[in-house]
Amino acid sequence: MLPIDIILDRTSICNLTMERDVLSKAIENGEHIVIFGRRNTGKTSLVKGVCVPEFLVKRKKAVALEVDFLGVDSIAEVQTRLRIALERGLSRSFPNKQAAMKLVADDQTDDSMRLEQYFDEIARLASQYDLLLVMDEFQDLDFIKGAVARVRTCLQGISTKLPIIVLGSKKHLLAHIFAAYRAPMANWGKDLEISPVTSQKYQDEYFNYASSYFAAENLDLERKQFVELCRRTQGIPEAINIVLNYCLSKGKSLTSQDLATETAIHLTLLDKSSRFEEVLSRFSPNERQLLAAIAKFQPVPQLKSKTFLAHLRGMAPTSITTAAKKLEDKAEIYKEKLGYVVGDPLLGEYLKSTR
Ligand SMILES: Nc1ncnc2c1ncn2[C@@H]1O[C@H](COP(=O)(O)OP(=O)(O)OP(=O)(O)O)[C@@H](O)[C@H]1O
Ligand SMILES: [Mg+2]
Repeated sequence: MLPIDIILDRTSICNLTMERDVLSKAIENGEHIVIFGRRNTGKTSLVKGVCVPEFLVKRKKAVALEVDFLGVDSIAEVQTRLRIALERGLSRSFPNKQAAMKLVADDQTDDSMRLEQYFDEIARLASQYDLLLVMDEFQDLDFIKGAVARVRTCLQGISTKLPIIVLGSKKHLLAHIFAAYRAPMANWGKDLEISPVTSQKYQDEYFNYASSYFAAENLDLERKQFVELCRRTQGIPEAINIVLNYCLSKGKSLTSQDLATETAIHLTLLDKSSRFEEVLSRFSPNERQLLAAIAKFQPVPQLKSKTFLAHLRGMAPTSITTAAKKLEDKAEIYKEKLGYVVGDPLLGEYLKSTR
């Protein structure tokens, strides 16, 4: 079976070799990088599954700190995430010295400055060891008033050439921090975009990789069907893997003669319908309606255009703005070049066929 929902290592990320090399060089040179891209394109895997292990193996006295800011809702929670990252990073590099590695910041009584103290600790480690700092889902700091500004100031205070990788999947929020006019971290780092499997090169590499899983089960994967699957899933690796796994689990080849992509997607959606319904039940009725309409007409260039509004029963333009913001903040919808699309391609297909 193809891997689902786990952090992949070097051998199971079949594409992204160019991105891997760019990152390795940047780490070597102590640069700052902002990685962005849609959900489930392999960003976390590339960093945590490939770059971090490589960084640690190559060096003798090295520490990698991996902070995850997913869903943080207060400064206290940000501090907890920093503490966890420090503790894990240190005990990974020095499994026998845990007691000696007690965090200085934890002894301080002034709770309000703990964030700054953890970053002081990071600066101290950077002066002692080869250090790599990774901050995943960085954009979620934008939900907490003042958090980005405080972290920015802390990062400015770290003077060594510390390699820092920031990553996230909510493009509009990352842009708000790094790219917008007068953004708080406007000149910080270099951008690296992780694209879905849409280019010929990525499709070739992915096809070879997926074919080997079919061959191992004495099944066939037809190139034409695979390309169609990439088109229907907007090239999102996890969605591709889910449909291919459906075929593998049923012992079916994906060829025009056996099981065609259209049917394979349809059957995968049937198989997962209760999961999708459960996901949908968590949205408000307005959000659900908007999501379903986007799924049907995507890409939607303008959510408040007359033609699109005609498909939304009884929703005022202001409720559309509110619902769209909620959905975008949760990466449930994305604004692509041609307009809004549903973030999870399979959920999009499910909505299209059931609503
Ligand atoms: N390049 C890839 N090759 C193979 N599988 C992939 C690839 N990228 C993603 N996947 C699949 O997607 C899953 C999630 O990958 P990962 O968590 O690294 O993505 P991500 O971009 O960090 O996602 P998110 O934005 O949700 O954090 C993997 O377990 C795997 O099933
Ligand atoms: Mg991730």
